[in-house]
Amino acid sequence: MFQGFAHVWTPVLPARRLGSKPVGLTLAGERLVLFRAAGGAPAALIDRCPHRGVRLSLGKVTPDGCLACPFHGWQFDGAGANRRVPLDPDAKRERLFATPVPVRQLGELLWVYTAPVAQTPAEPNVPSALVDPSLTRTWLERTWRCHWTRAMENMLDAPHLPFVHRTTIGRPIARQMTADSRLVTSWEEQPWGGRQRSSLDGAKSLGHLDFHRPNMMSLHIPIPGRRFSIHAIVIPLDMSTTRLVIIGARDFAPWRVLNPLFNLVNGIIADQDQAVVESSDPPVVPRPSLEVSVASDKPTLAFRRYFFEQLQESSSEPTVNKACAPLLSASS
Ligand code: FES
Ligand SMILES: [Fe+2]
Repeated sequence: MFQGFAHVWTPVLPARRLGSKPVGLTLAGERLVLFRAAGGAPAALIDRCPHRGVRLSLGKVTPDGCLACPFHGWQFDGAGANRRVPLDPDAKRERLFATPVPVRQLGELLWVYTAPVAQTPAEPNVPSALVDPSLTRTWLERTWRCHWTRAMENMLDAPHLPFVHRTTIGRPIARQMTADSRLVTSWEEQPWGGRQRSSLDGAKSLGHLDFHRPNMMSLHIPIPGRRFSIHAIVIPLDMSTTRLVIIGARDFAPWRVLNPLFNLVNGIIADQDQAVVESSDPPVVPRPSLEVSVASDKPTLAFRRYFFEQLQESSSEPTVNKACAPLLSASS
């Protein structure tokens, strides 16, 4: 399960999209169903009924916060425990559980852990800009036909800015660079990922960019006296489809009416990348020795190291110790 993207936390959905109906989604090749369990707490189960394998996301949420399967009406609570087997009151319900995965609501986002684990995992590492109530945030989505690793590297890649984005964010570099220009990129490993700073021909660095493992880039844009950041989350749906989520966070111009304008700009920038990234061959980033690289590729090579050391071979077991299941749906 979750082949190549197991045992990590990722945002999957804005919390406001999870109402009274279950929501089905695909994450790293695995189908999940999210729903609001008792008390409104978010819950996530593998979207496969343990009885006959149908999609639980086609079912309904009961008034007491269980998810009822659409086929024979079995009801599962937020921890996957079976609470009712209609027409078969003597069924040993403790054996008939669905498989939960951990889920959290943090700020406006729902985060999912990519494993049905027997112990509660460490909590997600969330950049403060995504939960700080004083900031105004925007949300924009794109779907790209590529493997998530190519999209992630694109987000960490500074040297493409004056080419792919020469009419937008890459314009200052495109104007300034000469045939002899040198882009110097530093990369500091961090407990949560890494921080990148770049400078062109010795000029002062233009902000910094953070990689938050496993799949988020945070660009901090330096505006004196202001906080302004853009976060790109690269969510693997399957081997060839990636959901790109771009969140802007700002402490100025708080009026929501301006959000479409911020999204318009972010959308233009993302769309400039799409065709180039989708053309990558091979689709999954290869080991560094199979492509040639230069000094300014340091951040993408750091990502590639992380991917090959920790994620590429990762997978999780399809079953869960049901005795631990109640731990899994705790939410904050
Ligand atoms: S298939 Fe779900 S209850 Fe039968
Ligand atoms: Fe780009």
